[in-house]
Amino acid sequence: MGKDFNNKVHLFAPLKIRGINLKNRIAVSPMCQYSSQNDGHPEDWHLVHLGSRAVGGAGLVFSEATAVNPEGRISPWDLGIWSDEHIPSFSRITHFIKSQNSVPGIQIAHAGRKASRETPWNNGGEIRKENGGWQTVGPSPLSFSEEDSVPKELTKQEINQIIEDFTKAAERSIHAGFEVIELHFAHGYLVCEFMSPLSNIRTDEFGGELENRIKLPIEICNQVRKVVPSKTPLFVRISADEYVKNGWDLEQSIYLSIKLKEVGVDLIDCSSGGNSFYQKLDSKPGYQVNFAKEIRLKSKILTGAVGLITDPEQADEIIQNEEADLVLLGRELLRNPYWPMYAEKTLNKCSSWPDQYLRVDE
Ligand SMILES: Cc1cc2nc3c(=O)[nH]c(=O)nc-3n(C[C@H](O)[C@H](O)[C@H](O)COP(=O)(O)O)c2cc1C
Repeated sequence: MGKDFNNKVHLFAPLKIRGINLKNRIAVSPMCQYSSQNDGHPEDWHLVHLGSRAVGGAGLVFSEATAVNPEGRISPWDLGIWSDEHIPSFSRITHFIKSQNSVPGIQIAHAGRKASRETPWNNGGEIRKENGGWQTVGPSPLSFSEEDSVPKELTKQEINQIIEDFTKAAERSIHAGFEVIELHFAHGYLVCEFMSPLSNIRTDEFGGELENRIKLPIEICNQVRKVVPSKTPLFVRISADEYVKNGWDLEQSIYLSIKLKEVGVDLIDCSSGGNSFYQKLDSKPGYQVNFAKEIRLKSKILTGAVGLITDPEQADEIIQNEEADLVLLGRELLRNPYWPMYAEKTLNKCSSWPDQYLRVDE
């Protein structure tokens, strides 16, 4: 099942990871909506936004980056799961996604030195403390750009608290009905900042050589794996390259992925960039697929490919060529939540519309 006449796995082949079955290889990439009006709680917007993409046929629907503590939000309007009170607000979303035969996933995150920002539609600038923002934190007192405030360097005690915040957030996510947990270690947010020698100049055991810089991601995964059920897939999103000389690169990503697999991570979601103001990035269709391919091959772990994947044949080829096990789509699924239906029609000459919509094919 799930193989074509050439015996290749394809986009609409189911994917079983641990105890969870995805009906196809299409995932909604995590996308911030900056729309919580109430301390990290999801709104009707989130229910309809994520729910529509489940109706649209994606096998896995990820929530946006959801903060593990209030200071870990990119903006005051981000989702958060730092208290038990958040659980019921998320439950109605996971319940609906499951009712559509899709799997609800959550991305949990801490924004580090890139926190306390305006919404993108208000220019995304820093909200300073005096204007209702908050003190950002990071591995070292280095700001993202010259314009930004300098983050407070985390103490070891505070690092331990962050590990606990991730762990508790993962536990709550399970109580809220999420079936896949993704840890956001990409895009220059807190854990990514620890990984890169450009943003982490600590001299203690969390800084310096590679083994030290990857202590935090490994320890978070270690602790999270202990509290989530063994049937729950654990994904990690990384920036496989930060596109700056002497920065984090693919080789380090391959090594980290091997280590993450050892502590029970199931899939590496391969993104890139975001940690340096000076990055040189040439984004074109499928520009990050090679990271997924190399990490899959060299670290022997499942991977997800993301980034300018918009065409059904392109997505199918990534799976058929064994470059990745899953494709994640962001903006194309914003444009068209029903993309999986059209992709199925294009590739398989059929589509699995919900009963209520069956007449679209008349
Ligand atoms: C509106 C928007 C919000 C995003 N928020 C997140 C996020 O919360 N977490 C994350 O890891 N990536 C985030 N991203 C990046 C996407 O998940 C995705 O990796 C990126 O857009 C590239 O994929 P695409 O070309 O299919 O859009 C966001 C992208 C967009 C467009």
